[in-house]
Amino acid sequence: MIEKCLFPAAGYGTRFLPATKAMPKEMLPIVNKPLIQYGVEEALEAGCTTMAIVTGRGKRSIEDHFDISYELEHQIQGTDKEEYLKELRQVMRECTFSYTRQNKMLGLGHAILTGESLIGNEAFAVILADDLCVNNNRGVLSQMIELYKRYKCSIVAIEEVDPKEVDKYGIIAGDMIEENVYRVNFMEEKPKVDKAPSNLAVIGRYILTPDIFDILRVTKPGKKGEIQITDALMEQAKNGRVLAYKFEGMRYDCGSIDGFVKATNALYAKMQ
Ligand code: UTP
Repeated sequence: MIEKCLFPAAGYGTRFLPATKAMPKEMLPIVNKPLIQYGVEEALEAGCTTMAIVTGRGKRSIEDHFDISYELEHQIQGTDKEEYLKELRQVMRECTFSYTRQNKMLGLGHAILTGESLIGNEAFAVILADDLCVNNNRGVLSQMIELYKRYKCSIVAIEEVDPKEVDKYGIIAGDMIEENVYRVNFMEEKPKVDKAPSNLAVIGRYILTPDIFDILRVTKPGKKGEIQITDALMEQAKNGRVLAYKFEGMRYDCGSIDGFVKATNALYAKMQ
């Protein structure tokens, strides 16, 4: 039902310099798999088969990662090393990949609008690959799509954060309509710690209805001078068309060194 998943992946990843100077943040590996592949696997598990990736300068290795490397295939053919490519081969078999470039980094909202040509006029998922979500049963996107089937409106994934950290996130306020589900009536990007409407923070998983594109087209630059998806979602929320979902699972902010190290340790421990 939600067939396409958009991956805004054009950001500079400045919190991870110098690693991200010539290499996309989305290609940083957690153990032996790049962040973006975790995201694609989560989308596939949720039933999405078209991966729409918004890239930028210096991001070519993302395209190469989801393509066949004939020399390598030839080199490892018939050896036990083929096992290492099993999951990647599966996503390449089951999904199609399309790409577009954001040539000016004007913010997440602008990156999503740039993806319109790949999405068209249908509801779609968004994954920010630097937020790695792990759950033993159903993936976070899969949980959100279940909810979308019932409510047919935009949905943001949220988690409770330390009240001192609210100025790093989009923060929502809303009324609980069922366990773990809120109807959003207010949201604000990176509010001041003493002015935040709650400590319910939006993380990098969204389901968006396609009217978001028209809203984004007229959304003025907000915090940090960027076009913020939070501001566009607030327009939908005014009509009661945004839900916030407290998901099941763990989320690691792999765009920060702390989150990256925690994710690496947790996934390595799981492999043992
Ligand atoms: P972030 O702010 O976390 O990513 O944006 P960043 O800008 O790459 O990282 P830092 O803060 O400099 O370390 C959230 C997501 O939105 C994408 C990023 O790639 C990331 O996945 N994004 C952000 C874009 O695609 N384009 C933009 O203009 C801004």
